[in-house]
Amino acid sequence: MKRISLTRYLVEQQRLEGHIPSQLRLLLEVVARACKRISQSVNKGALGDVMGSAQSENVQGEVQKKLDIIANEVLIEANEWGGHLAAMASEEMEGIYVVPNRYPQGEYLLLFDPLDGSSNIDVNVSIGTIFSVLLKPEGTGVSENDFLQPGTQQVAAGYCVYGPQTTLVLTVGDGVAMFTLDREQGSFVLTQENVTIPEDTKEFAINMSNMRHWDAPVKRYVDECLAGREGPRGKDFNMRWIASMVADIHRILTRGGVFMYPWDKREPDRPGKLRLMYEANPMSWLVEQAGGAATNGRQRIMTIHPTQLHERVSVFMGSKHEVERVTSYHHEA
Ligand code: AHG
Ligand code: MN
Ligand code: MN
Repeated sequence: MKRISLTRYLVEQQRLEGHIPSQLRLLLEVVARACKRISQSVNKGALGDVMGSAQSENVQGEVQKKLDIIANEVLIEANEWGGHLAAMASEEMEGIYVVPNRYPQGEYLLLFDPLDGSSNIDVNVSIGTIFSVLLKPEGTGVSENDFLQPGTQQVAAGYCVYGPQTTLVLTVGDGVAMFTLDREQGSFVLTQENVTIPEDTKEFAINMSNMRHWDAPVKRYVDECLAGREGPRGKDFNMRWIASMVADIHRILTRGGVFMYPWDKREPDRPGKLRLMYEANPMSWLVEQAGGAATNGRQRIMTIHPTQLHERVSVFMGSKHEVERVTSYHHEA
């Protein structure tokens, strides 16, 4: 079997396909290198002083785990000196991180959820890193405003899942490719190209414990799935909920399904739990590039114009026909 490394894949994307400029190629290599380091820390677990709480809170009021902070630092350290970035933004930092003066400033903006699925760290279940890349608008300096672009403006997006295997999943707008980490070689190897999500599915993912708080269209959709073969859908459904968006979306990119984290009545003023800019947007682009769909129940997630860095959003993504169905229930309501 011909082994294609991530480096070679990116060089070919740059040289043959003309999809990515060299600075973006560098950026993606650096992010991949950071993910390798995070993967090492994840694997060490209790042997590496990476488990448990950091006794601090992030801007979202969530208790930070040690690994949330470690992953955030790894991504910043890896990315700040290369000259490809102007600034970064992260779930774990209130404001943006501007590349320090001592380094050259590049034209890209990097956003990330350094460690997704924090509640799964200590219980040894799959977690991940999610990232999104934007171009800095023209002009001098860089501000938070520069980041507030809709997902349609992304130039690259991806995630790395730290599971039984460490897998990096990437799009630069030319389909979705998956790379498996070869630990002996220390490199990511292309293991799947042109990832496609089946349009139909018999599997849904939602945290059912919130059912009583849902809006009517979500309840209708899930009730119909639960009714199985005897119900209006005429087929039995299966359910999965890993509580790491990365792992749930990885399953959906692999075998289909629909992932939902809707608005609910627990916090009515909040549009949802998940963050638009570094969770929903990159995942939406990957899902769309794989032939799936992603909406907030009413509109395509990637067309939302963000007004805040840490803005939240309702999420329905995955197999196209299911996302269309649950979206149409919202429009009917
Ligand atoms: P994070 O660990 O980055 O805060 O994200 C966790 C998110 C997402 O990965 C997952 O789908 C969801 O939270 C799980 O939420 P519940 O615990 O409410 O099910
Ligand atoms: Mn997350
Ligand atoms: Mn996180």
